[in-house]
Amino acid sequence: MTGSPFALAAQRVASGASHHDEAATLVASMTIDERLGCLDGDTPFWPGLLDMLGGGYYRHAWPAAHVDRLGVPGIDFADGPRGCVIGAATAFPVSMARGATFDPELEERVGDAIGAELRASGATYTGAVCMNLLRHPAWGRAQETYGEDPHHVGEMAVALTRGLQRHVLACMKHFALNSMENARFRVDVTVDERALHEVYLSHFRRVADAGVASVMSAYNSVNGSWCGESTALLTDILRDEWDWDGFVTSDFIFGVRDAAASVRAGLDIEMPLRMARAMQLSAALDEGRLNLADIDAAVVRVVATLLRFAWVFQRRPDPSVIASPDHRALARDVAARSTVLLRNETVDGVEGDRRPLLPLDRTAVRRVAVVGRLAAVANLGDGGSSDVHPPSVVTPLEGLRAALGDVVVDHSDDDTTIVDGADVAVVVVGFTKADEGEYLDTTGTATLAAELFPPMDDPQLGVGTATTTVSPARGEPTMALGGDRRSLRLSTSDEALIAAVRDRGVPTVVVVMGGSAVVMPWAVDVDAILHVWYPGMEGGRALAAVLLGDDEPGGRLPFAVPADEADLVPFDPDADAAVYDLFHGQWHLDRIGHQAAYPFGHGLGYTRFGLRDAVVDGDRGEVTVVNTGDRPGSTVVFVFAGMTESRWERPARRLIGFRRITVDVAAIATVELPLDWSALAVRSAGRLIDEPGRYEVEIGLHAHDPQAITLTADR
Ligand code: BGC
Repeated sequence: MTGSPFALAAQRVASGASHHDEAATLVASMTIDERLGCLDGDTPFWPGLLDMLGGGYYRHAWPAAHVDRLGVPGIDFADGPRGCVIGAATAFPVSMARGATFDPELEERVGDAIGAELRASGATYTGAVCMNLLRHPAWGRAQETYGEDPHHVGEMAVALTRGLQRHVLACMKHFALNSMENARFRVDVTVDERALHEVYLSHFRRVADAGVASVMSAYNSVNGSWCGESTALLTDILRDEWDWDGFVTSDFIFGVRDAAASVRAGLDIEMPLRMARAMQLSAALDEGRLNLADIDAAVVRVVATLLRFAWVFQRRPDPSVIASPDHRALARDVAARSTVLLRNETVDGVEGDRRPLLPLDRTAVRRVAVVGRLAAVANLGDGGSSDVHPPSVVTPLEGLRAALGDVVVDHSDDDTTIVDGADVAVVVVGFTKADEGEYLDTTGTATLAAELFPPMDDPQLGVGTATTTVSPARGEPTMALGGDRRSLRLSTSDEALIAAVRDRGVPTVVVVMGGSAVVMPWAVDVDAILHVWYPGMEGGRALAAVLLGDDEPGGRLPFAVPADEADLVPFDPDADAAVYDLFHGQWHLDRIGHQAAYPFGHGLGYTRFGLRDAVVDGDRGEVTVVNTGDRPGSTVVFVFAGMTESRWERPARRLIGFRRITVDVAAIATVELPLDWSALAVRSAGRLIDEPGRYEVEIGLHAHDPQAITLTADR
């Protein structure tokens, strides 16, 4: 790159020249083939597909838009959301777990670590920022996003992007309304202006405003247009309305159908192989369905962004960061801070006192029974595009054994007799990548493959028209068939196991693994429940630390858990069409007047907090938090607001701010709360407007907190 036309242009940009003008000059010096070559992946289709199916996805980055003659560095893509998918990198807790930390500063550190590992693994561009809203917790890829609330998802995604973009270019995905998995290649989502802008896009806009380099379009269609060919999404909203300055890539392999339409709509690079565009674009130019100006506009956007981020390509990556002790320590810390204590009942203590079961009283524990098949296996989450293969994983059982030293820790997958004589039973249940995660429906993809795959393009592999089905396996390591969940309950065998353990009369902690909400009709029968998500490579150590009280369970629910799944909006994994409106999750429960089993923001700690002296003044609030318990601790303060007298139908309360705060024993702390009133803007006549009037504001420790302080704000 040094001394190349790109490098010289980058120097001029660094000294203040316009990256667009410099990019336009570079693009004008490209041949037509070089320009077309920038609009899709650099790898020929068939060898690329076979490499990917053979595990290449997890071995190297995927190049696009490299123009060696001019030194244009192009992009080298690798996922992902819970860590670098290439090689043996640090596996962090999944994004939903990190959402539960409600700690953007921590998330920025995670982004920084993932970004450094990606760069050290040969990537310069990542799909780590998955931020579709959790419309329904049965979504198979729920674990890859942060939760159900746009303000919260936006804050966390901005933080991740900031951290990542210290090392690589990031793309936010999947644009837009991609929150069903099994039907992702076919479902059309109908959405009106209000729901689109107020609910499903507002958090994307936050990340666009924060300078994300790129956007990945979604597979599904919205209001009748495939997202990769949607002028409304990719040009009218993203570029014209939001004034965002970056490039758009397609989702992989099945993301572009009509190549010319995708270019005209504003999709810049088809990823990751030479496919629809390689087959269709030359003819489209010849036939006048596409102009050179359309091609140039896309290439200029790509090159301009590369110039803006030129330092990424100039820096020397540091391989020692990959799964480094610092990054593992961060993964462990995040796992503890994301663990949600849903329930913690009092039991008899050793001195005849009554105390909450957790944290366990170390001095009184001599024998622990660990039951459940998930206790002794590595369970890191989705087995698809976000899969990470760390060098080692600490399971719950290993974590407990390591932390408990001489204490006897028995384990069985399903023999509940081991509980007899134990001081506490820990039942580890929930889901794996076989139950939820990314999904390739073989029939659907075979039909698409027959339609979209190019003829054989590698003489070594064969010639003629190739037809194939896409195997769900991506080689070694393989891709699991997860998909959407069809029920929010645990499996019948998990529920039976919990009942059988409880019947043995020993204090029982249930540890639930999974990417989002679990409906727990059995909750009242057990003493304590911890939701630990897919907690990453150090998850077992974090769990032990939380059980023993070395760490507090820091997580708060980034969605509402209903008492009954019928209380949620409908979710049909087999749908061809879906309608998204203004209400889902906690907002929907509020609207129908049903109480959540655990509301948005719920999560117990090991101490207690009180709130007082709340103030709201313009764009900031303030409240005093008092630690009334007997140990230091942290909690999350939430600010919800609504307008009862609104001219428009709206959620009764929407989140407009949150802050994690740590307070010492018997201490008080005043917390500043930046307020995002734009979360309450209403889309009307093509604009977002702030409705004047009186807003009710609630400052509490979760939605519907009985001790919340209620104020009003006139705006
Ligand atoms: C997923 C994307 C991912 C891409 C690359 C697709 O199947 O939907 O989220 O980034 O694959 O693996």
